[in-house]
Amino acid sequence: MSGALAPGDRLPSTRSLAASLGISRGTVVEAFDQLRAEGVLDAKVGAGTRVASALEDEPIASIGSASASPKIREVRLPPSAVRLAAVSRTLVPQPDVPFAVAVPAAGIAPDDAWRRLGNRVRATARAAPASYADPFGTLELRAAIAEHVRRSRGVRCEAEQVIVTSGTQQGLYMAGRVLVSRGDAVWAEDPAYPGLTAVLDDLELRTHRVPVDDQGIDVARGVALAPAARAAFVTPSHQYPVGMPLSMARRQALIGWAERNQAWIVEDDYDSELRYAGHPFPALQGLSPSRVVYLGTFSKVLFPSLRLGYVIAPEFLVDAFGGARAILDRHSPTAEQHVLAAYMREGLFESHIRRIRGLYSERREALLDALSSRLPEGCAVQPSDQGMHILIWLPTGTDDVRIAESAQAIGLTLRPISRMYCDPPGRPGLMLGFGGFPTERLRAAVDDLVPLLGTAR
Ligand SMILES: Cc1ncc(COP(=O)(O)O)c(C=O)c1O
Repeated sequence: MSGALAPGDRLPSTRSLAASLGISRGTVVEAFDQLRAEGVLDAKVGAGTRVASALEDEPIASIGSASASPKIREVRLPPSAVRLAAVSRTLVPQPDVPFAVAVPAAGIAPDDAWRRLGNRVRATARAAPASYADPFGTLELRAAIAEHVRRSRGVRCEAEQVIVTSGTQQGLYMAGRVLVSRGDAVWAEDPAYPGLTAVLDDLELRTHRVPVDDQGIDVARGVALAPAARAAFVTPSHQYPVGMPLSMARRQALIGWAERNQAWIVEDDYDSELRYAGHPFPALQGLSPSRVVYLGTFSKVLFPSLRLGYVIAPEFLVDAFGGARAILDRHSPTAEQHVLAAYMREGLFESHIRRIRGLYSERREALLDALSSRLPEGCAVQPSDQGMHILIWLPTGTDDVRIAESAQAIGLTLRPISRMYCDPPGRPGLMLGFGGFPTERLRAAVDDLVPLLGTAR
């Protein structure tokens, strides 16, 4: 390997090598046998043992020496590796401190009922089959999901149209694989969820970022920018990250465009169960079930480490989504699917949603109350009545990333939104999650946060 012996060079006899190294001859014989088996040595009776001459054609890369692992700078990485490495630095979980966005209330999810039920269900043979399971998901869970979204979200579907995923992140990726091809034009909101834009970039789509205003995505602007786009990726019930719902007029305009152009709408309905005033807006899917692919997740209403979500696809796309699911990782863990199906069937899911809606509503009120009258000039809370976070707009010219860094240094976590725009820095703002923290903790965190808000101009 070091090149001290060249192909064709003769090795000493096993006897003399053993003597010179002071080891037993058996050890040397074993080593020679191993090297012969690997094709490094040739041995011919009467001709002794030589370094294999076949190695002349293809020199062995030297290994084990300091020069063996080239420096990262010297390796020309494929563009996809560069892009994906950047994603690994972007999609990182927030620490469990105020104001982390996706953290559910501690002790509430997963709760004792979930744990007890989980222990019971996981102990059954059905929950841990020895074979692969259906890529579409277990029938019980698909049926429970279909019933839940029909009743609570006005989604029009049968259990057969539900494909269980490991969360909306995977659903977005599957939609990008099934509905469009590399180079196709698509719409995404501006600003948008970084987990979505990472998927669209990875799939090498031509993404047109369509601005949102107080009614949600500006469909007329989308039509002006890319009338023939093949798909629109949207968050209609609670625009991510800003927070407004898509107005009824815009819903109709979006569906009208999709139907006229045979384009698809991908509806990311990530936290629609958590609406605090009046009834949630029904899902877009209910207005156009054959043009909309609906994505739901249990990350917000249960907990994100569960890694379960679902795609609801028009009947004629179900098999394609099943195939996309199968080539990713075949299927979600069967045991967790059975636990969740039982949790839903026994009514625990419904009562859990009612409970957290009440709790999160209190926490949200406490946060808004603590902030009111204390926001520095030029800061404003974006009106919204849903989800697990609020958004504070900062004065133009503020560096929201720097404020987030200062907050981190004092034990808080904030998500700056200026980088979620297509042309960073976009309008500065901070996302504040409230679901995971008791009211006293939120109030204390606001005391620490307020002095930072007027800085970094
Ligand atoms: C808008 C939006 N879409 C999708 C996701 C991904 O959810 P999941 O955990 O189901 O992959 C999130 C998670 O925070 C989100 O905020």
